[in-house]
This record gives sequence, structure tokens and C-alpha cells, in this order.
Amino acid sequence: VHSKTLAELEYLHSTAIAVDATGKIVAVEPGHATAAAAAEALLPKLGWAAGDVDTVATKSDSHFFFPGFIDTHLHASQYPNVGIFGNSTLLDWLNTYTFPLEASLADPAKARKVYTRVIRKTLAHGTTTAAYYATVDVSSTNLLADLCLAAGQRALVGRVCMDQLSPAYYRDESPAAALASTLASIAHIESIDPSASLVRPVLTPRFAPSCSAPLLKGLGALAADRPDLPIQTHISENKNEIALVKELFPPSSTGAPDDSYSSVYDAFGLLTERTILAHGVHLSEVEAELIAKRGAKVSHCPCSNSAITSGAARVRWLIEKGVTCGLGTDMSGGYSPSVLEAARHAALVSRHVAMGGDDKAKLTVEEVLYLATRGGADVVGLGGRVGAFEVGMEWDAQLVGLGTVDAEGGAVEEEDGNVDVFGWETWEERIAKWVYNGDDRNTRKVWVKGRLVHERKG
Ligand code: GUN
Ligand code: FE
Repeated sequence: VHSKTLAELEYLHSTAIAVDATGKIVAVEPGHATAAAAAEALLPKLGWAAGDVDTVATKSDSHFFFPGFIDTHLHASQYPNVGIFGNSTLLDWLNTYTFPLEASLADPAKARKVYTRVIRKTLAHGTTTAAYYATVDVSSTNLLADLCLAAGQRALVGRVCMDQLSPAYYRDESPAAALASTLASIAHIESIDPSASLVRPVLTPRFAPSCSAPLLKGLGALAADRPDLPIQTHISENKNEIALVKELFPPSSTGAPDDSYSSVYDAFGLLTERTILAHGVHLSEVEAELIAKRGAKVSHCPCSNSAITSGAARVRWLIEKGVTCGLGTDMSGGYSPSVLEAARHAALVSRHVAMGGDDKAKLTVEEVLYLATRGGADVVGLGGRVGAFEVGMEWDAQLVGLGTVDAEGGAVEEEDGNVDVFGWETWEERIAKWVYNGDDRNTRKVWVKGRLVHERKG
């Protein structure tokens, strides 16, 4: 099962997919009576001997392969704080919960513990690609990249740039120091994976208020100098944050045509087709049009936007404006490491937007799953490479198993009773049950680039 378009999932029944030793999908063979028959028909076409092939099969009518999830925005360093946010909103949440934790990860032993766990946990939830923020600290940021590569998780890893706003114990000392640290981290990440087969660096100005104009200018120049590097930041998440941006960056100081948040990034050359903008809750019409024109992408983070009371992003409106969107957990503004949870919450938040009077705002199961996979791939610059099951793409996938109920109503498979399938549901209904009731118990196996990176025990 995978997304063909925003509106449509494709159900490839009785199909075999062939993946070569490099992890690339080399053939998709539908149209047979069974998947085994499809596999048998495929081997001679590829010139492969049965004995040379490892086979992974779905077990029953409640098992299916799905593309791995793409988490387009999360903070690896904030993982210990998932669920801990009280009644805070963005700016007090940063000071109370977030900066102290991030600063503490300059301790390499603590960073190793946290980063090892966050990679393990997100893989277990089916996240095959993660766009991570680490911290200001270079060596632990580099460690995060090392650990992603070793665990086999595809990742964008960003050293966080911030030279103002935060307490003195947690910030870059100067714009020059921030740029030097950024370059050092980029050099390390490129040295461990020179072809960016899995891990790549990403320019990471935390958000406009925590960066001085010279730092944003320097990062814009670096982005222009290195057109291969993605950029990630936050935008228009919270009303007080937006007011702060207007105060800190008046048009007279940036040369921007107006005082919008988007214009600030644009003025510094940071609003590009490689830019991942998290949140975008309170964007204006003009801003959405500018973002679409520049080809920048939006990471929709519904769990975070609800948890720290930022607002309800209008995803349908963004899509209709021509903005490419994906999903982010935004841990730990978001309370969950699960992209499936983000997809479910995206569906629910879109219903709240609809209850505000715009009925077409509602996102379908198909649409939120598209955002979680193909849409996310486009957001992080991996469109056409991951996010679906097409020849030429890489095998980043999860085997999902739902529970099966026998004729008497008993559980055939005890382990996955969180989503019961009675047998009469259509495939569309099974997928809907997974989206609204599934969790990591249903994520049985996970592959990245053809390598098995997680297998659920018990
Ligand atoms: N804005 C600046 N930093 C952050 C962060 O860590 N999380 C969220 N959600 N928004 C931010
Ligand atoms: Fe964030």
C-alpha cells in the first residue's frame, strides 16, 4: 500500500517488489493470483536465482508493506522531554523546559544516551527519514550523525545556530563562531557519508528571534555558496513569536518589502526551495504566496501546535496555495515520537479547522498518509528517492501488522490486538483503522535502503 497522489492510495494486491543489493527497487510485479506467483514470475525477468534472494512476505490479510514515514521536523535533543510541557506556550516553554535540556547535552555521555534512544524509538515507530535538530554543541551534533549512520536511519542532521535571545549558558558566542561551528559540523557529517547515502547536514538557524541579522546574513551567504545544502527553521508558530520578529527585524533593518516573518527569511536568502519551514500556523495570504513562489516547504506539526497551544495550521489552504507540505512530530513541542500520531492529529486538527466554517479543510486518511510519506520526501529534498514503492526508489519501508479475529471473535494473533480486523473490512477501512488506532505495536519490521533496521520482538 502506498500513495500515488495526495488523494489516492494504491493497493498492490498479490504483488512482488524486487529490491537489489544496493537497496533500490528494481521491479514491481502486480497482476498475479498470489504474491508468491508474482515473485516467481519476476525472478527470471531479472535473471535472479531463487537461492540468491531473501524473501519477506506479508502473513495474512491484515499485514501490508507501507513506505517508511518521513518526520520532516523533530528535535533529537528534546526527546527526554516528550509529554513534559505543562500549560506553557512557545517562548516560556523554550526557557523553562527546552534550553536547559539542550544545553545539558553538551555532556557527551548524556548525548549518546539520548540520541541512541531517540533513533531506536523513531525507527520502532516506522520513521525511516528524520530531519533532526541537535543542539548548539558541535561534537554531540556530530555524534547524532554517527549514530544515525550506524543505526541505518536516513537523516538530516542540523547543528542549531542561535546567538541571541537564549540565556548566556546556551548560545553561540558570535555570528562568526556560529558559522565556524556550522562548517565544522558539515565537514564531519560529509566525511562520514560523502555521498549522502543516508546522512546529510542541514543549515539550522533555530528561528529568526534567536539569530542576529549578521548570523542570518552569514547563513544566507553559506546557503548560496552551497546550493546542495538543505535549510531548516521555524516560522509563524505562535503570536508572541511573530510580534517578536516584527520588533527585532523591522523592514528598515533588513531591506524587506514588509514586516512579515517570511520576508525576514527571504531578505536573508533563506527562503529557498531547499528550506523546510516548521509550523506556519499563522501565515498570511501574502506569506503563503511568497513561500509558494520561492518553493519553500512547510512541515506541519499538529501534535506540537495543539500541545503548546500555538494554533491550528490550515493545511488545505497551504496546499491550495501551492505549498508543498509534510508532517513533523516536532518532539518535544510535540508529545509523541510517532509520525502515525502526527498523521492522526493532522486529520483531527483539520476537522477543527472545518468546524470553524471551512468544511473542505478536512484531510482524509489518504491525504494524511501522503503527507507522512511522499509529501514528506518532497519537503526534505528526497522526492523521487523515497516515500513510495516505485522502480528506481529506495526500499524505505515498514511491515505493518494488524490483529486478526477468528470466526468466534477470538484473537488469532495476540500481539497485535490493538487494532482488530474481523475480515469483512475493505482495505480502505483497514488502513483507516490503522491510522486512527495503530501504534508501534503494529510496526513489525522496518527497512531503510533495503537494510532491516528494526524488528519488533513479541
Ligand atoms: N522555535 C524555536 N525553537 C523551537 C523549538 O525547539 N521547538 C518549537 N516547536 N519551536 C521552536
Ligand atoms: Fe521545532
